Amino acid sequence: MSDWFETLGGLRGQVWRMLSQGACDPDSALHTAALATTGLGGAAEARMVVLRGASPSDASLEVHTDRASRKVDELQAKPKATLLFWDPVQSLQIRARVDVEILTGPALDNRWNALAEPAARNYGGRPPPSTPMTSAHDYEETTERDRFAVLVGHVTSMDVVHLGKMHRRALFESKDGFAGMWLAP
Ligand SMILES: Cc1cc2nc3c(=O)[nH]c(=O)nc-3n(C[C@H](O)[C@H](O)[C@H](O)COP(=O)(O)O)c2cc1C
Repeated sequence: MSDWFETLGGLRGQVWRMLSQGACDPDSALHTAALATTGLGGAAEARMVVLRGASPSDASLEVHTDRASRKVDELQAKPKATLLFWDPVQSLQIRARVDVEILTGPALDNRWNALAEPAARNYGGRPPPSTPMTSAHDYEETTERDRFAVLVGHVTSMDVVHLGKMHRRALFESKDGFAGMWLAP
Protein backbone atom coordinates (compact mmCIF):
# COMPACT_ATOMS: atom_id res chain seq x y z
CA MET A 1 0.00 0.00 0.00
CA SER A 2 1.29 3.47 -0.83
CA ASP A 3 1.81 6.26 1.70
CA TRP A 4 -0.58 9.25 1.52
CA PHE A 5 2.05 11.55 0.03
CA GLU A 6 2.80 9.23 -2.91
CA THR A 7 -0.38 9.86 -4.91
CA LEU A 8 -2.26 13.05 -5.81
CA GLY A 9 -5.49 11.69 -4.34
CA GLY A 10 -3.74 10.65 -1.14
CA LEU A 11 -2.13 14.04 -0.77
CA ARG A 12 -5.37 15.93 -1.43
CA GLY A 13 -7.28 13.81 1.10
CA GLN A 14 -4.59 14.27 3.74
CA VAL A 15 -4.50 18.04 3.21
CA TRP A 16 -8.25 18.39 3.85
CA ARG A 17 -8.17 15.96 6.82
CA MET A 18 -5.39 18.00 8.39
CA LEU A 19 -7.11 21.35 7.69
CA SER A 20 -10.41 20.08 9.13
CA GLN A 21 -8.57 18.88 12.24
CA GLY A 22 -6.63 22.16 12.41
CA ALA A 23 -9.84 24.20 12.48
CA CYS A 24 -11.11 22.49 15.64
CA ASP A 25 -7.94 21.45 17.48
CA PRO A 26 -5.95 24.28 19.13
CA ASP A 27 -3.00 21.88 19.50
CA SER A 28 -2.78 21.24 15.75
CA ALA A 29 0.01 23.00 13.86
CA LEU A 30 -2.62 23.92 11.28
CA HIS A 31 -4.73 25.81 13.85
CA THR A 32 -2.77 28.92 12.86
CA ALA A 33 -1.62 30.21 9.49
CA ALA A 34 0.00 33.24 7.96
CA LEU A 35 -2.59 35.21 6.02
CA ALA A 36 -0.99 37.17 3.19
CA THR A 37 -2.75 40.01 1.41
CA THR A 38 -1.86 42.90 -0.85
CA GLY A 39 -1.32 46.02 1.26
CA LEU A 40 -3.09 49.25 0.35
CA GLY A 41 0.22 50.62 -0.91
CA GLY A 42 0.75 47.57 -3.13
CA ALA A 43 3.37 45.82 -0.98
CA ALA A 44 2.84 42.32 0.44
CA GLU A 45 1.36 42.07 3.96
CA ALA A 46 1.17 39.02 6.23
CA ARG A 47 0.00 38.24 9.75
CA MET A 48 -0.87 35.20 11.83
CA VAL A 49 -4.52 34.14 12.09
CA VAL A 50 -6.45 31.23 13.59
CA LEU A 51 -8.13 28.78 11.23
CA ARG A 52 -11.79 28.66 12.39
CA GLY A 53 -13.31 26.47 9.70
CA ALA A 54 -12.36 24.18 6.83
CA SER A 55 -14.89 22.64 4.45
CA PRO A 56 -13.62 20.11 1.90
CA SER A 57 -17.05 19.98 0.20
CA ASP A 58 -17.11 23.77 -0.38
CA ALA A 59 -13.32 24.02 -0.69
CA SER A 60 -13.39 26.89 1.80
CA LEU A 61 -11.38 28.05 4.80
CA GLU A 62 -12.68 30.42 7.47
CA VAL A 63 -10.96 33.08 9.57
CA HIS A 64 -12.52 35.45 12.13
CA THR A 65 -11.36 39.02 12.42
CA ASP A 66 -12.10 42.57 13.54
CA ARG A 67 -13.99 44.43 10.84
CA ALA A 68 -12.00 47.57 11.72
CA SER A 69 -8.64 45.87 11.09
CA ARG A 70 -6.46 46.87 8.19
CA LYS A 71 -6.64 43.45 6.55
CA VAL A 72 -10.38 43.99 5.97
CA ASP A 73 -9.68 47.26 4.11
CA GLU A 74 -7.02 45.45 2.10
CA LEU A 75 -9.36 42.58 1.25
CA GLN A 76 -12.15 44.98 0.29
CA ALA A 77 -9.73 46.62 -2.15
CA LYS A 78 -8.36 43.30 -3.43
CA PRO A 79 -10.32 40.21 -2.31
CA LYS A 80 -7.51 37.72 -2.88
CA ALA A 81 -5.27 36.21 -0.21
CA THR A 82 -2.99 33.30 0.58
CA LEU A 83 -3.11 31.18 3.75
CA LEU A 84 0.22 29.53 4.47
CA PHE A 85 0.44 26.51 6.80
CA TRP A 86 3.34 24.32 7.97
CA ASP A 87 2.97 21.06 9.86
CA PRO A 88 6.39 19.96 11.16
CA VAL A 89 5.10 16.50 12.19
CA GLN A 90 3.82 15.59 8.74
CA SER A 91 6.51 17.75 7.05
CA LEU A 92 3.83 19.41 4.96
CA GLN A 93 3.54 22.97 3.69
CA ILE A 94 0.15 24.09 2.34
CA ARG A 95 -0.16 27.32 0.42
CA ALA A 96 -3.87 27.92 -0.12
CA ARG A 97 -4.77 30.73 -2.50
CA VAL A 98 -8.26 32.03 -1.86
CA ASP A 99 -10.87 34.44 -3.14
CA VAL A 100 -12.14 36.14 0.00
CA GLU A 101 -15.75 36.86 0.84
CA ILE A 102 -16.19 39.20 3.84
CA LEU A 103 -19.24 38.41 5.99
CA THR A 104 -20.61 40.88 8.56
CA GLY A 105 -23.94 41.69 10.22
CA PRO A 106 -26.92 39.46 11.05
CA ALA A 107 -25.61 36.59 8.87
CA LEU A 108 -23.10 35.97 11.67
CA ASP A 109 -25.59 35.72 14.56
CA ASN A 110 -25.10 31.95 15.04
CA ARG A 111 -21.33 32.21 14.92
CA TRP A 112 -21.35 35.19 17.31
CA ASN A 113 -23.60 33.42 19.82
CA ALA A 114 -21.30 30.38 19.70
CA LEU A 115 -18.23 32.45 20.67
CA ALA A 116 -16.93 32.03 24.22
CA GLU A 117 -16.68 35.37 26.10
CA PRO A 118 -12.86 35.67 25.92
CA ALA A 119 -13.01 35.11 22.14
CA ALA A 120 -15.72 37.76 21.69
CA ARG A 121 -13.37 40.31 23.27
CA ASN A 122 -11.12 40.00 20.19
CA TYR A 123 -13.74 41.94 18.24
CA GLY A 124 -13.87 45.54 19.36
CA GLY A 125 -11.53 47.76 21.37
CA ARG A 126 -10.73 51.46 21.33
CA PRO A 127 -8.97 52.95 19.53
CA PRO A 128 -9.37 50.61 16.52
CA PRO A 129 -6.49 48.38 15.34
CA SER A 130 -3.35 50.11 13.94
CA THR A 131 -4.17 53.50 15.54
CA PRO A 132 -0.99 55.08 16.96
CA MET A 133 -1.16 55.55 20.78
CA THR A 134 0.98 57.57 23.20
CA SER A 135 1.05 54.72 25.73
CA ALA A 136 0.20 50.97 25.57
CA HIS A 137 -2.29 51.72 28.39
CA ASP A 138 -4.35 54.04 26.17
CA TYR A 139 -6.10 50.95 24.79
CA GLU A 140 -9.50 49.97 26.16
CA GLU A 141 -10.89 46.47 25.58
CA THR A 142 -14.55 46.53 24.48
CA THR A 143 -16.67 43.82 22.89
CA GLU A 144 -18.49 45.08 19.82
CA ARG A 145 -20.77 42.73 17.91
CA ASP A 146 -20.69 45.00 14.83
CA ARG A 147 -16.92 44.62 14.62
CA PHE A 148 -17.11 40.83 14.20
CA ALA A 149 -16.26 39.79 10.64
CA VAL A 150 -15.73 36.42 9.02
CA LEU A 151 -13.40 35.95 6.09
CA VAL A 152 -14.48 33.01 3.95
CA GLY A 153 -11.64 31.95 1.69
CA HIS A 154 -12.88 30.13 -1.39
CA VAL A 155 -9.89 28.04 -2.40
CA THR A 156 -8.75 28.59 -5.96
CA SER A 157 -5.56 26.54 -5.65
CA MET A 158 -3.44 24.65 -3.13
CA ASP A 159 0.28 24.34 -3.62
CA VAL A 160 1.44 21.51 -1.37
CA VAL A 161 5.03 20.55 -0.51
CA HIS A 162 5.92 17.34 1.34
CA LEU A 163 9.46 17.04 2.61
CA GLY A 164 10.56 13.43 2.76
CA LYS A 165 13.35 11.17 1.52
CA MET A 166 12.11 12.48 -1.78
CA HIS A 167 10.57 15.97 -1.80
CA ARG A 168 7.20 16.12 -3.51
CA ARG A 169 5.17 19.13 -4.63
CA ALA A 170 1.69 19.19 -6.12
CA LEU A 171 -0.73 21.84 -7.33
CA PHE A 172 -4.49 21.38 -6.93
CA GLU A 173 -6.67 23.89 -8.78
CA SER A 174 -10.41 24.59 -8.56
CA LYS A 175 -10.63 24.98 -12.35
CA ASP A 176 -10.30 21.20 -12.87
CA GLY A 177 -12.02 20.10 -9.66
CA PHE A 178 -8.72 19.91 -7.74
CA ALA A 179 -7.54 16.93 -9.82
CA GLY A 180 -3.96 17.94 -9.10
CA MET A 181 -0.64 17.80 -10.93
CA TRP A 182 2.93 17.25 -9.77
CA LEU A 183 5.31 20.19 -9.82
CA ALA A 184 9.08 20.20 -9.57
CA PRO A 185 9.74 20.87 -5.89
C1 LIG B 1 -0.97 33.25 16.94
C2 LIG B 1 -1.78 34.43 16.50
C3 LIG B 1 -3.07 34.25 16.06
C4 LIG B 1 -3.83 35.33 15.64
N1 LIG B 1 -5.11 35.12 15.19
C5 LIG B 1 -5.81 36.14 14.67
C6 LIG B 1 -7.09 35.90 14.08
O1 LIG B 1 -7.61 34.79 14.03
N2 LIG B 1 -7.75 36.96 13.53
C7 LIG B 1 -7.21 38.22 13.54
O2 LIG B 1 -7.84 39.13 13.03
N3 LIG B 1 -5.99 38.47 14.10
C8 LIG B 1 -5.29 37.47 14.66
N4 LIG B 1 -4.05 37.70 15.20
C9 LIG B 1 -3.51 39.09 15.18
C10 LIG B 1 -2.97 39.39 13.79
O3 LIG B 1 -1.78 38.65 13.56
C11 LIG B 1 -2.73 40.87 13.54
O4 LIG B 1 -1.78 41.38 14.46
C12 LIG B 1 -4.02 41.69 13.66
O5 LIG B 1 -5.13 41.00 13.14
C13 LIG B 1 -3.88 43.02 12.91
O6 LIG B 1 -3.55 42.73 11.58
P1 LIG B 1 -3.83 43.75 10.36
O7 LIG B 1 -3.44 45.11 10.85
O8 LIG B 1 -2.94 43.25 9.27
O9 LIG B 1 -5.28 43.67 10.02
C14 LIG B 1 -3.27 36.63 15.65
C15 LIG B 1 -1.96 36.81 16.09
C16 LIG B 1 -1.24 35.74 16.52
C17 LIG B 1 0.18 35.96 16.98
